[in-house]
Amino acid sequence: MDSENDLQQYVKQILADNPFKLVLSGPDGMRETLRRLSNGYQAERIVNRQAFQSNLTAEETYPYVLSRFEEGYRQLNAWSESYEYNLRVAKRGRAMFSRKANKNVAATSEQHNRVKNYILPEGEVVPPLVDMGIFTPDGKVVPSRYDKYKQINRFLEMMDDTLSGIGEGEELHVVDFGCGKSYLTFILYYYLYKVKKIHAVVTGVDLKADVIADCDKAAKKYGYDGLSFVVGDIAAFQPDSRVDVVVSLHACDTATDYALYNAVAWNAKHIFSVPSCQHELNKQMTNGRFPILTRYGIIQERFAAMATDAIRANLLTAVGYKTQVLEFVDLSHTPKNLLIRGSKCDLPEEHRQTALQEAKALMAEFGFEPTLFRLLGEKMS
Ligand SMILES: C[S@@+](CC[C@H](N)C(=O)[O-])C[C@H]1O[C@@H](n2cnc3c(N)ncnc32)[C@H](O)[C@@H]1O
Repeated sequence: MDSENDLQQYVKQILADNPFKLVLSGPDGMRETLRRLSNGYQAERIVNRQAFQSNLTAEETYPYVLSRFEEGYRQLNAWSESYEYNLRVAKRGRAMFSRKANKNVAATSEQHNRVKNYILPEGEVVPPLVDMGIFTPDGKVVPSRYDKYKQINRFLEMMDDTLSGIGEGEELHVVDFGCGKSYLTFILYYYLYKVKKIHAVVTGVDLKADVIADCDKAAKKYGYDGLSFVVGDIAAFQPDSRVDVVVSLHACDTATDYALYNAVAWNAKHIFSVPSCQHELNKQMTNGRFPILTRYGIIQERFAAMATDAIRANLLTAVGYKTQVLEFVDLSHTPKNLLIRGSKCDLPEEHRQTALQEAKALMAEFGFEPTLFRLLGEKMS
């Protein structure tokens, strides 16, 4: 065999083992990752720090990988449930191939056995998790995505704590504001509809028409009849039925305030909000009695972000939500964020007033005029 044929044979051999991940690399930091989907792969290429993704069918994957070598990639590493592969093209074009047993799989299986009570247990085929490359098509956790699997279960546990009182067959209307690509929306729907057997009606709302069209397509593909998506601005959205739960995950800056305000205005029973990009109060912040907090840009920025969420949590308490602030680990990026979780209940008037006065005191100290305070207006008096 000449080395070109060797390369083709080795690529074929690797793909025949159905690896869950392939990484192509080349000179000058060229790098591309392929992750297994239920039928084919998702390829992700980083160019100038921007990620470009494309989906490949199983048939397209072989010529695609070969074409990458023609483009100058020199190395392919791949991991299947059984083996780790290394294929390298040396300077004179010679293909060098090696493989060894994938020991991490055994280690991960032991880890699984120790933790048995995940809401989405291994072995159950969850199509969105397969498409996200977290489950294999037969419902096993892909070893390299075990952390994501745990984070998703953690997210569902946070939901489950709150929604435990809702029984099988009951109807639950959920709006997810700023749903974006909706990874968690699909998982949430699966959990409500398949695991809890709730009659869930979930609506994702986002400004981006192309993203919403993709989400719509995926919901149809999975046959998730109770899950729909709408293009629109959170501030202008009008539901056509009651809303029981409002979710907003990483809706930027004041978009979160509109989501929270809508939840209050519609008397939603539960709120799950992970704010991000809290810039509003940073721009307004004055010295107050603590100039040390505005002396260093990054300290001011972080303090203002924390103040934003503390005020939001207190304002929700002031309008009758029992509110907690918890740590939330983001799925797509790694930073730890805050989850504001609120449930409507009969809070004592004194408790509500204290929360309001605390928020007002912080606002007065630093000249903060948060959007949520303005929107809630007389609801707090
Ligand atoms: C960072 S993404 C988060 C996506 C998803 N919720 C998640 O956690 O993976 C924020 C999304 O909020 C959407 N968004 C921001 N402001 C919005 C608004 N005023 N109305 C509707 N969507 C908004 C953006 O288009 C974007 O898709």
